[in-house]
Amino acid sequence: MTQDTKTQDRVVIFDTTLRDGEQSPGATMTHAEKLEIAGLLDEMGVDIIEAGFPIASEGDFNAVSEIAKNAQNSVICGLARAQLGDIDRCWEAVKHADKPRIHTFIGTSPLHRAIPNLTKDEMAERIEQTVTHARNLCDNVQWSPMDATRTEMDYLYRVVEIAIKAGATTINIPDTVGYTAPRESADLIRKLIENVPGADEVIFATHCHNDLGMATANSLAAVEAGARQIECTINGLGERAGNTALEEVVMALKVRNDIMPFQTGIDSTKIMNISRRVAAVSGFPVQFNKAIVGKNAFAHESGIHQDGMLKNAETFEIMRPEDVGLSETNLVMGKHSGRAALRDKLEQLGFEVGDNQLKDVFVRFKALADRKKEIFDDDLIALMRTSEDEDSTRLRIVSLAVQCGTEGPQQAELTMEIDGAVHSTTQTGDGPVDATFNAVKALFPHDARLQLYQVHAVTEGTDAQATVSVRMEEDGRIVTGQSADTDTVVASAKAYVHALNRLLVRREKGGTDKAEISYKDVS
Ligand code: KIV
Ligand code: ZN
Repeated sequence: MTQDTKTQDRVVIFDTTLRDGEQSPGATMTHAEKLEIAGLLDEMGVDIIEAGFPIASEGDFNAVSEIAKNAQNSVICGLARAQLGDIDRCWEAVKHADKPRIHTFIGTSPLHRAIPNLTKDEMAERIEQTVTHARNLCDNVQWSPMDATRTEMDYLYRVVEIAIKAGATTINIPDTVGYTAPRESADLIRKLIENVPGADEVIFATHCHNDLGMATANSLAAVEAGARQIECTINGLGERAGNTALEEVVMALKVRNDIMPFQTGIDSTKIMNISRRVAAVSGFPVQFNKAIVGKNAFAHESGIHQDGMLKNAETFEIMRPEDVGLSETNLVMGKHSGRAALRDKLEQLGFEVGDNQLKDVFVRFKALADRKKEIFDDDLIALMRTSEDEDSTRLRIVSLAVQCGTEGPQQAELTMEIDGAVHSTTQTGDGPVDATFNAVKALFPHDARLQLYQVHAVTEGTDAQATVSVRMEEDGRIVTGQSADTDTVVASAKAYVHALNRLLVRREKGGTDKAEISYKDVS
C-alpha cells in the first residue's frame, strides 16, 4: 500500500550545477548565466543551491554574492576548503542570503591525506578547528570528508563525530571518484547513522559521481538507508562522467513512490526548461537517449510502440511528457500563423514576452518561416534563446558570402559594421567556418582564444536550424555567444560576433571568471 504523500519523509535536493558542474573542464558559465541558472533552480524548488567556490576567483565570489542577494526561497551555499581564509571568504559571499550555508570539506582517505601531508590526528584537529570556525560564522554548516567511500571506516566514524561535535548540521558523504556501488552506498550511510554519536542530530547527504554509471542508483540507495539530502546537478553535469542527475533522482522518487516513499520539493514540470538552458550555457549537450531529458526519452518510433501508444499511453510510458515540462504537441506553426498564436505558444513554452520583444521575435519568426516549412517548439526555443543582447551590438554582420568546393581552401567574403563604420574583407580558411572566423578576425583583430565551437541541429530534416555556441577567453574573462540559423555558417558567424560583442562589454566592466584556485589545491 502506498503511504500518504503528506506523511512521507522529505528528501532535500542540493543542486551543485554551479559548483561541481561548472568545475567540469570547458563548462565555465558567465556571471549572467550563473545568475539565470540560479534563478531557475530557485523557481523549480531546489532546497539548496551550491552557488560556487568563493575563494576560487573574484568571478566566483561575485557570482555567489549576487546569487545570495537574489535568492527567493533556496538556501545559498558556498564551498570552502578546510582553511580559515577560505571559510571567511565563503561567508563574505553567502552571508547576503536569507538562508546561507557554508560547506567545508577535506579529503580524508589515505590518498587524499597524503596531499597536505597530515597525519590522522593533525587532520582531525584541522576538522575541529575549521568546522568550529564556520559554525561561529553561520548556523548552517555542511561538512564533507572528500573521498569518503575510500576512507577507512574507523577513521570516518571518528572525523564525522568530530565534525558533528564542532557544529556541522549536515554531513555529506562524497563518492568523489564514482567508485561505490548501491549496496555499499546504503551500508555506509546506515553504519554512520548507527555508530556515530550525535548522528541523529544531523542530516546525512549523499554526493555521488557517475564514473561507473551508478550515481543515481547509489544516491537512491543512500536515501533508503537514511540519507535525507541528495547532491546533484542538472543533466548530471560535472567532471569526468559527471554527478548524480537531478532529473533522474527526482523523477525516480516520483514515479516509484510506491517503493521509495519520499517527497522532494521540486516542481518537475520545470525540468525540461532548465535542462535545455544548462545544456546551452555550459556547452555540454544532452545525449539523445539520456534518461528524462534526452531528445528521445519520450519518443516512440517503432510501429508497434506507436500503435500501443495511440490506444493507451501507459503501454510504453511510465511518466507523461507533461510531468517533466514537455508540451503535448511539438508541431507549432507555419508562415501564416499570427502574432497572437505566437505569443500563446511562447507562453506555453514558458516565455513571458512583452509587446516590444514579441514584435522582434515575430519578425524573426516570419523570416524563419519563409525558409522552413514547419516550425517546431525547439525552433522557437532556439529563436528565443539566441536573441542578441541589446546593450552589446558594437559589431554587426552586414553580409556574408562563402565559396565552398571539394578543393580547398574555402573563401569567405564578409562585410561588418564596427562601431557604425562598414568594413569588408575576403579571407580563406580550412573549411567555410574557418574562413568566416578568419574574416571576422581580420576585420576585428583580437587575442581572445576560442575555447569551444559547437553545432547542433535543432530539429530533424536538412532544412533544420543549426544552433551554434562559441566560447572565448581573454585575460581570464570568459564569454559565450550563441546563434541559430538554417545556414550553419551564418549561425557560426553570428555566434562568434555575439561572443565578441559580449567580450567588449566585459572588457569595460573588468574582472575575471577564471578560477585561480581549484578545490583540489588542498595544501
Ligand atoms: O566530489 C567531491 O568530493 C566534492 C566535494 C568537494 C564535496 O565535490
Ligand atoms: Zn563532487
